[in-house]
Amino acid sequence: MFDELNSRPADSLLALIKAFQADDRPGKIDLGVGVYRDSMGRTPVMRAVKAAEQFLLETQDSKKYLGPEGDLQFVRLLQPIIFGKSPTFAQRLVGIQTPGGSGALRLGAELIQAANPSAKVLLGTPSWPNHAPIFSSARLPVEEYAFVDLMSQQVKFESVVAALSSAREGDVVLLHGCCHNPTGIDFTMEQWRQITEILVAHRLIPFIDLAYQGLGDGLEQDAAPTRMILEAVDEALIAYSCDKNFGLYRERVGALYVMTRNEDALRKAESNIAALARVNWSMPPDHGAAVVRTILESEEMSAMWRAELEEMCLRVNGNRAALADAALDLAFISRQRGLFSNLSMSKETAAALRARHGIYMADSGRMNLAGMQPADADAIVVALRAEGCLKSSTVA
Ligand code: LMR
Repeated sequence: MFDELNSRPADSLLALIKAFQADDRPGKIDLGVGVYRDSMGRTPVMRAVKAAEQFLLETQDSKKYLGPEGDLQFVRLLQPIIFGKSPTFAQRLVGIQTPGGSGALRLGAELIQAANPSAKVLLGTPSWPNHAPIFSSARLPVEEYAFVDLMSQQVKFESVVAALSSAREGDVVLLHGCCHNPTGIDFTMEQWRQITEILVAHRLIPFIDLAYQGLGDGLEQDAAPTRMILEAVDEALIAYSCDKNFGLYRERVGALYVMTRNEDALRKAESNIAALARVNWSMPPDHGAAVVRTILESEEMSAMWRAELEEMCLRVNGNRAALADAALDLAFISRQRGLFSNLSMSKETAAALRARHGIYMADSGRMNLAGMQPADADAIVVALRAEGCLKSSTVA
């Protein structure tokens, strides 16, 4: 039976983790997979997470099943952080714990499939490479449109408007809530406002992927577009990840929220996401969500978490400034947000940067700014210049 299979290539982004580890050059720089690194180059367990784990170790008295919804207190306590304190939102939302943001995307895709199999998913490109396959695997057609021009590092807003305006009622629009992966280019609030108008006018369903809240401009600012959209539309889905802002990557901590103003539809969505979770993973893994819940239940741990997240955010934006200052051609990097910026380069150039200079970035030219130190900026610029990625020879 298995001989009938076609071999599939390994995920090139995840393959970079192993390639970097295998490189023994001391000056190597890892701008590959999207994990935060501190000024020592480590991806530490956050202080609040350590405190919560200690607390759980001492107090958790059972590992019995929680059910397909997972830890609902975790799901509830995240709500004010994502959606703000407005009680009306809370009445229109149902949520479920998922294995990471990917689990939330997959579950949301299956919910859309169950509710409206003829819906197509509009996806601006470039996007996170796993977005399109997740929706296709759930048998939803994906229609791509150009979101950004990497040469000019500008949003192609006319292309966004044209794609959304030609979609049919009930089609789904995948949107990166903040810290766009892979480009770091977020819509301005004015562009978000126009997008919201189109979503409402054409009765499209936004599916907001919010995986980096707090790593762009801060928790509140990063949630502002999501909140604006939810104020306006009738129905929406939100895939949330705590993997980055709580540094819980391998614990796989996420949540899917479904928003609708129709009470009956809300109850139906609630029962469907639970049933879909049951057939996918039965119940989500507990530990990471229990850690997040423990942090959010404690004022002291919450304050610790917020302070550390702010430090992380400042460090990433400091790295952005250092690289932008090192070359005129890279000035745009300081205007972008989140972990990533995406240079326009070929796969061969990305391979040459790895082989000749020990600088690891995705084949697409995406770099994780959290992976560098400000002192690495010059070495990165020298390598980019040597490989013909920069036009100008001047510093900013
Ligand atoms: C990334 O984009 O680097 C991360 O989200 C890791 C992943 O799963 O691709």
